[in-house]
Amino acid sequence: MRTFVDVFGCEPEASASAFGRVNLLGEHTDYNEGYVLPTTIPQATHVQVALSSTRRFRFYAANLGEFLEYEDEGQAPRGFGQYVYGCIEVLKSRGVNVPPVLVHIASEVPMGGGLSSSAALEVATLRALRQLLDVSLDDVELAKLAQRAEVEYAGVRCGILDQMASSLGSPDRMLFLDTRTLERKLLPMPGGELIVVDSGIARTLASSGYNQRRSECERAAALLGVKALRDETTLDRIVELPAPLDRRARHIITENARVLEAVSGVDVARFGELMNDSHASLRDDYEVSVPGLDTLVHLLQQHPSVYGARLTGAGFGGACVALAHPGTASKVKSDVLTAYAAAGFEGKALV
Ligand code: GLA
Repeated sequence: MRTFVDVFGCEPEASASAFGRVNLLGEHTDYNEGYVLPTTIPQATHVQVALSSTRRFRFYAANLGEFLEYEDEGQAPRGFGQYVYGCIEVLKSRGVNVPPVLVHIASEVPMGGGLSSSAALEVATLRALRQLLDVSLDDVELAKLAQRAEVEYAGVRCGILDQMASSLGSPDRMLFLDTRTLERKLLPMPGGELIVVDSGIARTLASSGYNQRRSECERAAALLGVKALRDETTLDRIVELPAPLDRRARHIITENARVLEAVSGVDVARFGELMNDSHASLRDDYEVSVPGLDTLVHLLQQHPSVYGARLTGAGFGGACVALAHPGTASKVKSDVLTAYAAAGFEGKALV
């Protein structure tokens, strides 16, 4: 992989990293102002920056071997560049003077795998620019800017889960976050051993399906007369909603309840059951699973050493998360990946 010096012929002046995340419970609840429960994964995105000596912004993505450049007032970059560009533009909108910069990106977070590669890129970029330009910006504010970069410049109307997880999460803790108030607590992990497996299924419809679910939730909340579905805490009134809004609302209401139960001091076995229930709800009510993910989750759930498993992230492909009995994770991964291959799929263990 080409280094910063190889590409730009000078040394970086600042650098920062940010972890990807895996969400243990609380899926699609964030844009309904509900609860989430992510932890970070060891894979990170690394960004190095320096001031440019010309009028051109120049970005290099080492994993992709892709280079792009632009000038202020010129055509906005696309692909990976739109996230970096988005970070620069949101900083500018906050009154920060961002001169042309050189940006080198190297990432271990698999792209498009539901592990928040875009948030890790945004958070690492903003951290590096914060350092380079000496901007006063706390980690919550930084997460909010990262989310704006994604919504306004990458066109995904995402919630704040990924950016908060990447900015404030911790590897051996789970971040219990109320996405309405941004109140949060870092809690001990539920126990057992964490497993993350990429299903190998490229995410299709990820942004169109995602934005559609978000609109459905907004319609359901409006019909119920609440600000957000987070405010509906029982299933009593969802019969008033037309299909499929009733199912969408049921997922959000039950998923928020699962997160609250999970942080109420349950043991790891119960935590696993809540993960299994979450998957069923994402598959049947929220309809964001795909057959390959269901196969992988089923194989994990059937394994005698697994407490529970579910798809993680937006769905439509991507990764699954599971909790295994202590000391069994390697065997579970190899057993499940063998069976998954026999079913005609190619998965990969990530954690
Ligand atoms: C994506 C979004 C998040 C969240 C999850 C689903 O990762 O970026 O904001 O909505 O999907 O929980």
